[in-house]
Amino acid sequence: MTLAPDASHPRDDLELPELPGRTLAEAELRDWVERLAARPELWRHHVAHDSARERAGGRHYVSLHRDEHVDVWLLCWDTVDDTGWHDHDTSAGAVVVTDGAVVERRPRLGGEAASRTVPAGRSFAFGPDHIHRMSGAVDGSVSIHAYSPPLWRMGQYAISDDGVMRRWSVSYADELRPVEDDGHALVSGP
Ligand SMILES: [Fe+2]
Repeated sequence: MTLAPDASHPRDDLELPELPGRTLAEAELRDWVERLAARPELWRHHVAHDSARERAGGRHYVSLHRDEHVDVWLLCWDTVDDTGWHDHDTSAGAVVVTDGAVVERRPRLGGEAASRTVPAGRSFAFGPDHIHRMSGAVDGSVSIHAYSPPLWRMGQYAISDDGVMRRWSVSYADELRPVEDDGHALVSGP
């Protein structure tokens, strides 16, 4: 089962770690998601990894919080899950991996993408200039992501076999997935 983001009903009942009430910088976001990850009673109940057969519809991800300065998501990953290339428009972001491991790749024009595996217990942050692609390194992985200012538009990219890159503007509420050069989704599923 996939839970669509529900920005109209943010989880204000959660007692999240304190936020400063303004846009957060990369280091602040990273520190904040690490503190949230250390309190699994706030998010563990949202974790779900459905079988491939059951979840042909896509990735499992849940909006944990959204306000005027930050939005926060919990994402569940299996090895079939892949965001495709994307950016976060004007938002900085931070990711903490709580279970398993995720792969982050960054495009390198004319060469192989830069790739790293981020295991449980590790985190990273990035600015609005960051273009990347994330996937599950092992089944059953979980990560928590925070963005500031909140995601609104995002860029989704296709890179053709001869290295030409194209960008489509998508809504933050759309599920990211790999796209073909004409903008059509290659696969359904996160
Ligand atoms: Fe991203």
